Amino acid sequence: MLNLDSGDGAPKNRAREFSQARAVKQRGGSAEYAPVMTAPPQSTHAVLGIETSCDETAAAVYDGGAGLLAHRLYSQAAMHAEYGGVVPELAARDHVGRLSALVSETLAAANLCADQLAGIAYTAGPGLIGALLVGGSFAAGLAAATGARLLPVHHLEGHLLAPMLEARRPRFPFLALLVSGGHTLLARVDGVGRYQIIGDTLDDAAGEAFDKTAKALGLPYPGGPELAQLAAIGQTGQFRFSRPMTDRPGLDFSFSGLKTAVLTALPRATTSQDRADLALAFEEAVTDTLAIKCQRALEQTGLQQLVVAGGVGANRRLRALLQAASEQRGFELFFPRPEFCTDNAAMIAYAGWARLSEGGDATAGIAARARWPLHTLTAPP
Ligand SMILES: Nc1ncnc2c1ncn2[C@@H]1O[C@H](COP(=O)(O)OP(=O)(O)OP(=O)(O)O)[C@@H](O)[C@H]1O
Ligand SMILES: [Mg+2]
Repeated sequence: MLNLDSGDGAPKNRAREFSQARAVKQRGGSAEYAPVMTAPPQSTHAVLGIETSCDETAAAVYDGGAGLLAHRLYSQAAMHAEYGGVVPELAARDHVGRLSALVSETLAAANLCADQLAGIAYTAGPGLIGALLVGGSFAAGLAAATGARLLPVHHLEGHLLAPMLEARRPRFPFLALLVSGGHTLLARVDGVGRYQIIGDTLDDAAGEAFDKTAKALGLPYPGGPELAQLAAIGQTGQFRFSRPMTDRPGLDFSFSGLKTAVLTALPRATTSQDRADLALAFEEAVTDTLAIKCQRALEQTGLQQLVVAGGVGANRRLRALLQAASEQRGFELFFPRPEFCTDNAAMIAYAGWARLSEGGDATAGIAARARWPLHTLTAPP
């Protein structure tokens, strides 16, 4: 069954049905029904995570007892660079070509066979529909072959829970700043699937603003890290941009005006040092704005822990600003390691495991949703 843009629930005894069916068929002695990879019977709490929502093909295994056992990632960035952005059809085709080998490599690194898995989690959205379908189809096939539970995961839930992969983890409830390529939001997180969005972007996401501004500065795709690198040699003072929407109450963001302000200032940046100064002024405006809104949200909610997730969370200036604020104001700060800020499968494996361990969320078909608002998620039953 192909379930496009629905993500509906499905019978929870599906895994048991598969196991029973497999057992019956194996007793019948037919090799035809044997799972692709066989192993001595052994129960694990391991969940395979698969991420193919955009331009990274990634796989990881998370185990409830042992933690993260393995993770692998292939970035398509070089392939898309010549087009200046992600080409959806090319992304989907590349996932098809790489996913199977990447999963085998990840399972080997985790020292597991596929039929030892308790669950197979995959990013079901939001993302590029063709790319999502590659991961979803693969996950569904492997779950059918092995009897593992099939676990559709919301990509942003993966980002929000990524700090749980670290030794020092937040405890529920906490405040989360999610700053990625497609999203910028502040959420109160009360548990798995319990997200209350208290601040959102009215236009561009922070990562998108980084990428567009980098493009205007002539930097290669993906622009955010390139712009941050250029800003590192910039000097403060020559350019200054306002911190959007910080002069009024509220927790929403707006970054498109900032991008336009950089475009307007661009003709004045004639030397390479000028361009570095301009990059720094932009980075300062974005990161100051994010830090101001985080502190405002902590005050308003009374929460004492701040989690920063998503690709822009890898930005060093943002990390340093929030670190200084946490020392000054006494709140606890949690970041995933930089490689788990951007897209990865470790966060998908963890989110799948978290849902499975709280009662599951298994579905019968492939869910793939290009758009999927985070606030519509619910806690596991
Ligand atoms: N050091 C950095 N400084 C600023 N921005 C960065 C840095 N590293 C990565 N980014 C930005 O992070 C974004 C990618 O993050 P991520 O992979 O979380 O987003 P995405 O998956 O594309 O979007 P979403 O998760 O919303 O669908 C890009 O916009 C990139 O430019
Ligand atoms: Mg992402």
